[in-house]
Amino acid sequence: MSTSRGGFSSRLGFILAAAGSAVGLGNIWGFPTQTATNGGAAFVLVYLVLAFCLAYPAFMAELLIGRYGQANAVTSMQKMSRTQWQKHFAFIVGFGGIVCAALILSFYGILAGWMMSFAIEPVTSLLGFNQGSTWLTSQSIARNLIFTALFMLLTISIIRKGVEEGIEKWSKRLMPMLIGLLILLIIYVFTLEGAAEGFSAYLNPDISRVFEPGLLISALGQAFFSLSLGTSVMIIYGSYISKKENLVSLGAQVTLIDVSIAFLAGLLIIPSMYVAQSQGVAIFSDDGSLISGPNLVFDVLPTLFDGMGAIGLFVGFGFFVLMSIAALTSSISMLEGPVSFAVERHDVDRKKATTYVGLGIFALSALIVLNFDLLFGLVIAISTVYGQPMIAMLCCVFVGWIWHRSDILEEIKQGNDTVQDTLFWKIWPWYTKFVCPSAIAIVFWHSL
Ligand code: PFF
Repeated sequence: MSTSRGGFSSRLGFILAAAGSAVGLGNIWGFPTQTATNGGAAFVLVYLVLAFCLAYPAFMAELLIGRYGQANAVTSMQKMSRTQWQKHFAFIVGFGGIVCAALILSFYGILAGWMMSFAIEPVTSLLGFNQGSTWLTSQSIARNLIFTALFMLLTISIIRKGVEEGIEKWSKRLMPMLIGLLILLIIYVFTLEGAAEGFSAYLNPDISRVFEPGLLISALGQAFFSLSLGTSVMIIYGSYISKKENLVSLGAQVTLIDVSIAFLAGLLIIPSMYVAQSQGVAIFSDDGSLISGPNLVFDVLPTLFDGMGAIGLFVGFGFFVLMSIAALTSSISMLEGPVSFAVERHDVDRKKATTYVGLGIFALSALIVLNFDLLFGLVIAISTVYGQPMIAMLCCVFVGWIWHRSDILEEIKQGNDTVQDTLFWKIWPWYTKFVCPSAIAIVFWHSL
């Protein structure tokens, strides 16, 4: 590992940073919401299978590219290329991922800003600043711009410090807080009336829905978004891992943490909705499905917290702090992709690169805030519906078809001498070559 570019100082540092990237609003908001709209436990079941069978192999491909290249996404992929056209292809895939990460951060920063403003609201309520509370929880351009800017400043300040002092240190602080808060909230919600009904709605699968194309597409999209695939993020995080580490087990541990936290988030959100129902809050929309999307997080849950009296202020505070932390550990990974590219390819000082790239992405967020109806959905669609699956698929094609099998083995053997005799090595190369690209292509085609 080159000392000048930094790297994770420990295995735990990598696991928490990569899990921090993976665990975000996608897990705590997206996953329960998708579960609510796609038949409860049937979705959970399909998600678990797809996360391990399709997202994990693709995730391993990205980690391996990075660890082999020990550089940003473009340089790493170009190191694997032998011919000129492969180098061009590497540039398109690597740079495409970096652009995708920047686009995702531009809308994610807005959502995270909402979480932060809702986290502050219980404090203003407690202090009796009612007008302040109303402002914090109402949509306005000023509020959105201010809180997106605040969130971007936090993200920039962590990334300016580099890999070990910034990403690793903060992931080690924030991830345990996130897990602790999540568990505390689940325990509290479980003591409330109505939670048991939510629990059984969450865990009873309607098996007839398991093969519905819509459900499969949503579950795969969710798994890819959740593991931050197709964004260059796992390539760059992979490049900071020591050659002594066993990548196969590191990747599996991160996937397991990501999936488990999504599952736990479902245990919090779905029972909370049924608790809200038992307090008279409507939780079903007109078509009979559970309310999801922004209404769930910004209407149903706050109404539930309000109905809890004084303790609701603390529960609401805990919930939105949880959301903000989850967003922050993900946003730092999104900023690291473009920043590492600027530092390594254009020789820009890290602090300067972070500030310029961060401000550039904030300018994009501001543009979205000012043209919300036009741009918000569009940027989400371009980056997550089209960009991520396409880039993730091309990464698999790169590893499966361009990189030589013997070179892959040489790389993966570092830190894992006996990998050749494992089930992983018997299955994964074929999987990455044939199954992953075709499955992603089929699902992508259907979603169009
Ligand atoms: N995995 C994050 C989540 O589930 O919220 C989102 C994400 C992070 C997407 C980093 C893309 C990315 F590069």
